[in-house]
Amino acid sequence: MKVTVVGAGAVGTTCADNIARKELCEELVIVDIKDGYAQGKALDLTQTTSLLGFDTKITGSTGDYSVTAGTDVAVITSGVPRKPGMTREELIGINAGIVKDVAEQILKYSPNAIIVVISNPMDTMTYLALKSTGLPKNKIIGMGGALDSSRFKTYLSLAMGVSQGDLQANVIGGHGDTTMIPLTRLATWQNVPVSDVLSQEELEKVAADTMVGGATLTKLLGTSAWYAPGAAGAAVVEAIIRDEKKVIPCSVYLEGEYGQSDICIGVPVVLGKNGWEKVIELDLNDEEKAKFAKSAEAVRNMNNELSL
Ligand code: APR
Repeated sequence: MKVTVVGAGAVGTTCADNIARKELCEELVIVDIKDGYAQGKALDLTQTTSLLGFDTKITGSTGDYSVTAGTDVAVITSGVPRKPGMTREELIGINAGIVKDVAEQILKYSPNAIIVVISNPMDTMTYLALKSTGLPKNKIIGMGGALDSSRFKTYLSLAMGVSQGDLQANVIGGHGDTTMIPLTRLATWQNVPVSDVLSQEELEKVAADTMVGGATLTKLLGTSAWYAPGAAGAAVVEAIIRDEKKVIPCSVYLEGEYGQSDICIGVPVVLGKNGWEKVIELDLNDEEKAKFAKSAEAVRNMNNELSL
């Protein structure tokens, strides 16, 4: 197996680190546009091999995609952060150019690759990758819901004093502060609804904390987070490469599911060797359905900024 991670920044390198430690592939390539940067990160990670006890071959490349040939799964984290004075539309324009170009380069050398998108705005970049490459829909997966659901479990576990691993909790909808929907009503702790354990007020606080999970970290760190985003990306890659058939919320192209079409947005999907293999349609109540429709509208407005 071969994995390529594009973008040797904070998220890309953390993702690569997790992929290597889990020995998900024999070969791992990191690509960045900054001269020498990916090679440096690859060498640094390689020097952890004997310390951490893994055997993945890690190499770096400055923009030469020929070395990515034969990639099974590619993770796109490349992009630029929003700078002061930059409008969201300008950011979308720049990152769209990067994601489109990267996806094309990957497929030029690895036409069978499955693409995992992390670059923001994630739902829109996933939609763009699908539309610009024309890949089958199951081969393009946006990572956002995996991260948001992990953050949801963190806040639930803190509020309940239980293990995160014993929780089943999904975040669906767009990967944005106001568009994500932590499904508190459906979340369980070892088959016990969390709503039996937490009060309505506590549940609302958990949901609110989850929704600003990324912004809270940006405020604390002065930049956006990388450990959980990188680990979430690696978890998606793992489910694909190991053909786990694991259910993880991801941004995928909908054709009628959840009442939506022609959009990539977060829903629980089964992940396996074919990419995303099935959408799980949860039995949402009217309030949750309305939130999902509103979230889809916001994502669609963002997609309209793309010049496809
Ligand atoms: N090709 C390859 N790499 C590129 C390109 C390109 N065309 N353009 C930019 N990059 C690289 C940058 O050189 C940088 O090393 O992408 C990397 C981005 O890394 P960071 O700036 O550290 O950003 P990071 O925190 O890793 O976030 C990456 O993930 O979670 C999202 O919102 C986040 O969109 C952002 C992405």
